[in-house]
Amino acid sequence: MKVTVVGAGAVGASCAEYIAIKNFASEVVLVDIKEGFAEGKAMDLMQTASLNGFDTRIVGSTNDYAKTANSDIVVVTSGVPRKPGMTREELIGTNAGIVKSVTSSLIEHSPNAIVIIVSNPMDTMTYLVHKTLDIPAERIIGMGGALDSARFKYRLAEALEAPISDIDGMVIAAHSDVGMLPLTRLATRNSVPVSEFLSEDRLNKVMEDTKVGGATLTKLLGTSAWYAPGAAVSGLVQAIACDQKKIFPCSVMLNGEYGQNDI
Ligand code: 2OP
Repeated sequence: MKVTVVGAGAVGASCAEYIAIKNFASEVVLVDIKEGFAEGKAMDLMQTASLNGFDTRIVGSTNDYAKTANSDIVVVTSGVPRKPGMTREELIGTNAGIVKSVTSSLIEHSPNAIVIIVSNPMDTMTYLVHKTLDIPAERIIGMGGALDSARFKYRLAEALEAPISDIDGMVIAAHSDVGMLPLTRLATRNSVPVSEFLSEDRLNKVMEDTKVGGATLTKLLGTSAWYAPGAAVSGLVQAIACDQKKIFPCSVMLNGEYGQNDI
């Protein structure tokens, strides 16, 4: 199993690290446009292999897509991250060109790969990739819901003062501060609806805190988050690679589902 991650910034590097630590891929290729950067990150990560106990080989590449050839899964994290006060949507102008050219280069070398889009604004970038690449729609997936659901579970556990492993919950709709929809009605603590434990006001606060999860971290960190995004992508990649039959909320093209088309 060969996985390529484009963008060796914080999200891409975390993603490569989590994939390697989970030890299901034979090779992870990390690509970046900045000379030597991906090679440096790959070498640093490889020097954790004996410490963390993984055998995945991590290779760095400065914009040489030949090294990504025959990847089974490719992950696109490239582009600029948002700064405090910015919405994800404000990144569209810069990131659209980058995502278009990166995905075209990837598919040229790995025509059968499954493409996972992480670059923001993620839903729009995923749509753009559907319009750019001539590959089956089911092979283009936008990752946002897995991350937002993890943030929702974190906020629920906080409100319930319960361990996160006891919480089940999902966030659907857009990966944006306004368009996100945490499904509070269906969230449970050990099979019991969370509304049995939390007031409507507290649940509304959980919902609002979840929706601005990325913005809250951007304000604290001065740039967008990376650990949870990296972990969420690695979970999705592992589910596909190991055919785990898991369910994740994702950004996908609708061709008639729910009576919707070309969305
Ligand atoms: C986030 O929400 C990077 O969009 C990503 O943190």
